Amino acid sequence: MPDFPNASSHFVPDGPALAPSPAAAMAAGATPAIVVSGLAKRVADASGELTILHEVDFTVQKAETLAIVGASGSGKSTLLGLLAGLDTPSAGKVVLDGVDIYALDEDGRAALRKEKLGFVFQSFQLLAHLTALENVMLPLELSGAFHARERAEEMLKRVGLGSRLKHYPKYLSGGEQQRVALARAFVTEPPLLFADEPTGSLDAATGESVIKLMFELNRQHGSTLVLVTHDQAMAARCGRTITIAAGRLV
Ligand SMILES: Nc1ncnc2c1ncn2[C@@H]1O[C@H](COP(=O)(O)OP(=O)(O)OP(=O)(O)O)[C@@H](O)[C@H]1O
Ligand SMILES: [Mg+2]
Repeated sequence: MPDFPNASSHFVPDGPALAPSPAAAMAAGATPAIVVSGLAKRVADASGELTILHEVDFTVQKAETLAIVGASGSGKSTLLGLLAGLDTPSAGKVVLDGVDIYALDEDGRAALRKEKLGFVFQSFQLLAHLTALENVMLPLELSGAFHARERAEEMLKRVGLGSRLKHYPKYLSGGEQQRVALARAFVTEPPLLFADEPTGSLDAATGESVIKLMFELNRQHGSTLVLVTHDQAMAARCGRTITIAAGRLV
């Protein structure tokens, strides 16, 4: 049994999807969750210019689950950051729920991220001067949600950290920090959830609990999930997988 004492009672068994299936959403002509067109990223380097991401195009329907796989250094994190409005593209567009995010200014993108998006960074990016509980409360407080403390506590219990609420990140293990990062991304129940190697620091059983939690959010709230992973089993559970090699979709 993993360090997950309060988790199992919260997981619902697989049941009928409450959200419309991606196929149904497409048939109904719903606005896609994500439309990527001609998206590219180039950076300056010693030899001139390095292309990290060549023009990529794809669409993700609402409530779809998409895995992005590929070798280390292939451009997965770069692509995920661009999808979430955390970077700026050299060319192309990302349209989230009908909004062209790079046509917005930084404040506009920040507002959209706050309203619609959860992001789990590969490097967690917890705030060092806040406890686990305060890290998870932050997005709720920023959006003026009620019962921030109770909701944050509940989410931390769901990822098995009910006994680590007052710990600062530096006193948490890598896997515990990852679970705080996951709780912070999930706690607002965002319609769009991006996660970069969400189980990379977790043992198999704890990882499995986190995967269940992500898919539960997808089922219960119709959240669209985009996951970067090296874990073939997790990719196989997503509705679709795209593979990236040297900055190109293959
Ligand atoms: N700002 C930057 N300047 C220069 N090179 C960069 C920059 N950002 C990313 N890179 C390079 O682009 C490539 C893709 O990086 P990225 O982090 O997207 O890879 P990844 O597929 O997520 O890899 P991993 O599986 O190891 O996390 C890497 O070779 C990286 O060194
Ligand atoms: Mg990466």
